Amino acid sequence: MSEPPIFGPDKVLIFDTTLRDGEQSPGATLNAEEKLEIARQLARLGVDIIEAGFPAASPGDLAAVKRIAETVGREPRIDKHGNPAEPPVICGLARANKKDIDAAWEAVRPAKHPRIHTFLATSPVHMKYKLRMTPDEVVQRVGEMVAYAKQYCDDIEFSPEDAGRSDPEFLYRVLATAIEAGATTINIPDTVGYTTPEEFGKLIADVRENTPGAKDVIISVHTHNDLGLATANALAGVQAGARQVECTVNGIGERAGNTSLEEVVMALYVRQQVYEIDTNIVTTEIHRTSDMVSRYTGMLIQPNKAIVGANAFAHEAGIHQDGMLKHKRTYEIMDASLIGLSHSRLVLGKHSGRHAFRKRLEDMGYRLDDEELNKAFKRFKELADKKKVVSDADIEALVADEVYQPKETWELVNVQVQTGTNVVPTAVVTLRNLETGEEITDAGFGTGPVDAMYQGINRIVGAPNRLVEYLVQAITEGMDANGDVTIRIEIPESRGYKYTPQGRPRRRLFSGRGVDTDIVVASAKAYMQALNKLLAAENGEGAAAPASDGVDESAVIAIH
Ligand code: KIV
Ligand code: ZN
Repeated sequence: MSEPPIFGPDKVLIFDTTLRDGEQSPGATLNAEEKLEIARQLARLGVDIIEAGFPAASPGDLAAVKRIAETVGREPRIDKHGNPAEPPVICGLARANKKDIDAAWEAVRPAKHPRIHTFLATSPVHMKYKLRMTPDEVVQRVGEMVAYAKQYCDDIEFSPEDAGRSDPEFLYRVLATAIEAGATTINIPDTVGYTTPEEFGKLIADVRENTPGAKDVIISVHTHNDLGLATANALAGVQAGARQVECTVNGIGERAGNTSLEEVVMALYVRQQVYEIDTNIVTTEIHRTSDMVSRYTGMLIQPNKAIVGANAFAHEAGIHQDGMLKHKRTYEIMDASLIGLSHSRLVLGKHSGRHAFRKRLEDMGYRLDDEELNKAFKRFKELADKKKVVSDADIEALVADEVYQPKETWELVNVQVQTGTNVVPTAVVTLRNLETGEEITDAGFGTGPVDAMYQGINRIVGAPNRLVEYLVQAITEGMDANGDVTIRIEIPESRGYKYTPQGRPRRRLFSGRGVDTDIVVASAKAYMQALNKLLAAENGEGAAAPASDGVDESAVIAIH
């Protein structure tokens, strides 16, 4: 059996691709610091494999994956039973060409358990129109490229892209070639989310039965949610013998997203009697991970999202509340504490000291250095002066907002707005240029205070953009709640709108999030964060993926 030595056969391996397929969601830009922080949290969550990125996409991507391999990929961790455990496998994606495979290997090689994941499309429509390759050429290339990757690394995963729409007989042939060339995991992607659970389960069973060598490798499933069937399809795959599930936190990903990690894990956990298979996931870390991914990507979670939505454990209807009071199990199939959701909101207040604050952060899984702790503690004290009670949610928002910031060009120094009835909303804004130290003040007018403030900032920064989304939420309850503002801005078509080799426009979106008890200030912070990301991208950080080499154009990924 060629499976990695660190896992047992009675487990479904959880392969997290939040940092690769998840980051392909429009606007879900992550900088290197944020990626590292998420990877650390994924390791705590107990995922078996972290797909840390697509190293050939840009030098920035390669560097980010390498950093994760050097750190998270070498750090021992604690498993769900509290025992010391191996670091996760760190995986890099590569199209089936030597340049991509070289880049993937360079990025993942520092990890204790590195993996190269290479892929090539096998459906008639992809082979004919996208690859312009014959089926025989595809088989040959798969054999050559898996063997090429195998010279570097023992742990090789191969994916026949668009397997869900491929001819099964051809699929068996391609997969057998990949296994013979050294693939240790064969992953079956339903790339466009087209199959039904019955079809997908049968496909996995058929692959297992009819592909020479398939019983000696791990069969993996990778499903997309275009018809809302990603979780059902993945679970059907597990029932048919798949022992790795590829998924993302909160189900983020291209179009309607990928299989959601928390849904698969909790379905396997809660319905153990049906599936009779375990995962290595520390379920109590689910909520924290979900929250972190939502904050850093700017991808909000729909309130009724299974497992991690704000309403997932809320009971509104009188008849439900009555039932719950009589017996929790009347309307709840799992306890909120299982996913790490603590109901105690009263955490720290204005009399709490630095020591208590640090301890609370540690309990919440944050490891800040002294400088970061100082910054966070100062913000905590300011917040505690304004709010009677500082909750876990406040603290998480504060740390995300204050500590893990992208590289900044401009810093907000001051904002003052005048608004009301019969007044033209006006904002006076002062920004500091962090490269030159210069402070600039200007004013803007608008349809409301936020618009006025954005106009003022635009006059100073001079980076044209279009505001495509603005959302304000209260993090906690009450008049003194922290306002949490999420925005998305877009580079206008005339400036740097990129096109794929097929001529499809690739939108360049940047998200920003800001938290403050004053929503105008929170809006300013969110806007500054998004603008700084936009400026960093325009200066070449996290540049768009390279042009296609003619092998697999769909893998040319928009990075922002
Ligand atoms: O959806 C897909 O086909 C993919 C592959 C690269 C595995 O993401
Ligand atoms: Zn995918």
